[in-house]
Amino acid sequence: MSETILKAEHLKKIFTSGKKTFMAVEDVSFELKRGQCLGIVGESGSGKSTIAKMITHLVDVTEGNVMLMGRDITNAKGKELRRAYQDIQMVFQMPMESFDPRRTLGDGIGESLRNIGMSRSETKRKVEELLVRCGLTPEFAERYPHQVSGGQCQRAAIARALAVKPSILICDEATSALDVTVQKQVLELLLELKEKEGLSFLLICHDLALVQAFCDEVLVLYQGKVVEQGIPDEIINHPTEDYTKILVESVL
Ligand SMILES: Nc1ncnc2c1ncn2[C@@H]1O[C@H](COP(=O)(O)OP(=O)(O)O)[C@@H](O)[C@H]1O
Ligand SMILES: [Mg+2]
Repeated sequence: MSETILKAEHLKKIFTSGKKTFMAVEDVSFELKRGQCLGIVGESGSGKSTIAKMITHLVDVTEGNVMLMGRDITNAKGKELRRAYQDIQMVFQMPMESFDPRRTLGDGIGESLRNIGMSRSETKRKVEELLVRCGLTPEFAERYPHQVSGGQCQRAAIARALAVKPSILICDEATSALDVTVQKQVLELLLELKEKEGLSFLLICHDLALVQAFCDEVLVLYQGKVVEQGIPDEIINHPTEDYTKILVESVL
């Protein structure tokens, strides 16, 4: 059995606005092993992005813990938080929006490298290498976000995430906005990174078929709770929860 790299323990998120409170995530636990892909599926509003945001500190955790390679990073700050961010990178649904429209893709991809003091020429070389690794050509470094397709932009976003050599990529609906064929190509890139480089993935999506093709394990989330958890084929062939049955039927 491979090592557990990321662990969520009884995560809970309550959003409050004024006097109103809303429980978006209720008692979610899971383990991600090195080199594996864990899928989180559920309809819109089920709490998927909130889980990703708690792991990456974009929202704080109401209750529970996030463990990265045995270290509790739930309330990490400063240097410890920056180190955790190097290990966990996120790829979002709208790649165009995640790049500054006034700067080239190369600038965006190389930003984190420049920030850690890499020279301009070394950064340029590294950015080109990252682009090639993600199925693009070095010349894409000179292009602006509006000069590439959605799929190319998502490849560039993956290249940017890989720049800091993470162990885990969290893909939050990273392919949902792409055409089916492009979606498949981007997923194949992710699978290649998983198989060749041992990267671990948290693949968040609402598409069970996609999870079946790419994930080793899946959590089915419904209204902030895990209603089913296991190997995708088994869950799809023998769903035990009513909600999962509905999800499965919507795929077939
Ligand atoms: N910042 C916030 N304040 C209040 N409610 C929020 C906030 N972010 C998300 N929610 C609510 O939490 C629930 C889960 O949202 P989200 O995690 O984005 O779902 P998903 O990614 O599965 O579509 C939704 O009902 C959403 O409206
Ligand atoms: Mg979401």
